[in-house]
Amino acid sequence: MDKLAVDGGAPVFSAPYPSIRNAAGRTIGAEEMAAVADVMNSGCLAYIYGKYVGQFEEDFARLIGVKTAVATSSGTAALHTALIYLNPEPGDEVIVSPLTDMGSVIPVVSQLAVPVFVDVDPFDQNIDPKAIEAAITPRTKAIIVTHLFGAPADMDAIMAIARKHDIFVIEDCAQAHLARYKGRTTGAIGDMACYSFQQSKHITTGDGGMVVTNQDGKFGRALRLCMDKGWPRDRPGRDHLFLAPNYHMTELQAAVGVAQLRKLPDVVETRRRVAQLLDAEINQMPSVRLLGVRPNCEEVRWAYAFTLDLARLTVPGAKVVEALRAEGIDCFLGYPGQVPLYRYPMLKDRLTFGSSGWPFTLPGVLTQQDFGASLCPIAEAACLSTVVLWWTERITEADARRIGAAIRKVIGNYEA
Ligand SMILES: Cc1ncc(COP(=O)(O)O)c(C=O)c1O
Repeated sequence: MDKLAVDGGAPVFSAPYPSIRNAAGRTIGAEEMAAVADVMNSGCLAYIYGKYVGQFEEDFARLIGVKTAVATSSGTAALHTALIYLNPEPGDEVIVSPLTDMGSVIPVVSQLAVPVFVDVDPFDQNIDPKAIEAAITPRTKAIIVTHLFGAPADMDAIMAIARKHDIFVIEDCAQAHLARYKGRTTGAIGDMACYSFQQSKHITTGDGGMVVTNQDGKFGRALRLCMDKGWPRDRPGRDHLFLAPNYHMTELQAAVGVAQLRKLPDVVETRRRVAQLLDAEINQMPSVRLLGVRPNCEEVRWAYAFTLDLARLTVPGAKVVEALRAEGIDCFLGYPGQVPLYRYPMLKDRLTFGSSGWPFTLPGVLTQQDFGASLCPIAEAACLSTVVLWWTERITEADARRIGAAIRKVIGNYEA
């Protein structure tokens, strides 16, 4: 067996393969440059007087198949806009996955709603409908469904539960641009959906986001007011109808977004095809388990993730990742990290508003969760056994074969 790079052997990759961090791994070219130049030459960098934000919103709504799309400054801002639209009472509850970006939870807490964490399904590490149903209380207002790594969650079951209990569903599509669920595009299934265009996403505007819905005005509010200071700009004069932040996307971001969006279908297709080639390279290993994709669904592989059967290995997951990194594989252990979200200080120590501990300490809160290691056992185990590789559409089939060889080399060395 070849000596591992971590033990002083030659690494499989002596030069890096394309990464989300630089030009080699991003599909950014003349179209984006021309659009940015157009904005600069126009002298109008703000959405209020410009044309690109409106165009990006229209193009995006058409592609997803929804009536309304509102561009925001980030994915977190998009989710916060959705929460402001929903307008929960302080202490209302929102069910969330422990395996998602903190950007799914910050908006809940910022809106003084209580995030209630429920465990995931080991099949795909998406939020488990059975756990959702068990967590519903009279104060449950919404469910945020993250389609993790780009694979659609069990939306039929989740929508049935939501309809039965009259609960709002927000799809978090930050990692699932153009994923398909039983013939429908994710983002057009729930009541609302949010997207991120941060650097690592399928398309990027640096930072940026989009919130989409078919239900604009359901709560008597236009979605745009919820990210624009509550200011109805379609009326003369100045007015501020309710508390709302300024989460504008700039014309520069939107110009890049318009150009990026045209490339999205190809980007998604390439990411999936090359990732499936890598699947075939490693799925025979006894200690490797690929994450599941539900029947009649198309995943879009934001990141490339697989799970280790630690009982079959002589070392912990962290050592496997250290050895893979030494071979030149751009990877990390566990998503969002080696513990689920609720164990980060913001939530565990309730570091929110001064020393108040709000919203967790508000009067009338029904669900009091202990943010310790026993809250979501499946998510806890996933964080210690899942290897996550950064993935991009610029990784070639040849790169994928070598990545597969590096994974086989490392794991083969550590299989018992
Ligand atoms: C699932 C998920 N939700 C929310 C976010 C937040 O998006 P942003 O980083 O653009 O604020 C991200 C991205 O990082 C994400 O992956």
